[in-house]
Amino acid sequence: MSNILNINNYEYTVNDDMLEMSLLKYLREILHLTGTKNGCEKGLCGTCTVIIDNKATKACRTPLKRVINKNIITIEGIAFSNGKLHPIQQAFVDCGAIQCGFCTPGMVLASYALLINNDNPTREEAAKALRGNLCRCTGYQQIIDAVLESPKIAKKMKVSLKAGCLQ
Ligand code: FES
Ligand code: FES
Repeated sequence: MSNILNINNYEYTVNDDMLEMSLLKYLREILHLTGTKNGCEKGLCGTCTVIIDNKATKACRTPLKRVINKNIITIEGIAFSNGKLHPIQQAFVDCGAIQCGFCTPGMVLASYALLINNDNPTREEAAKALRGNLCRCTGYQQIIDAVLESPKIAKKMKVSLKAGCLQ
């Protein structure tokens, strides 16, 4: 039986001898999807966050064998094909929630996992959803502002928060 992964709506077949490899390594080194960042490789920083079956998941602690036949979304999968930013990405820009940008893909995807289930979160709910994601430079106020702003931007853009390659 083949080992199929669905990543950003494309199917990939993984050989049996690669099943112990982490999803982070596979994304970055095999598929060259380097938007998923490697901050610690220990499950501590959240820079490697991706969406697996609608849940925010740390790719560094996820072996490929655990994601066979699952739907995976990386940061490359949420922008529009015409290059337009996803409303959450736009909110991060508008709220000044990015400095060096290293934590940003993970922050955006952790926010995405929250917002596709709850498009009107409180500040506390947003902070809770991002508690596994560390930022060493921007500060969390602007990042949480961006999460709360995202549904308004989606409305203005007339797109769903689930927008992107999966739509
Ligand atoms: S690289 Fe995965 S949590 Fe830090
Ligand atoms: S923007 Fe630099 S680590 Fe968050």
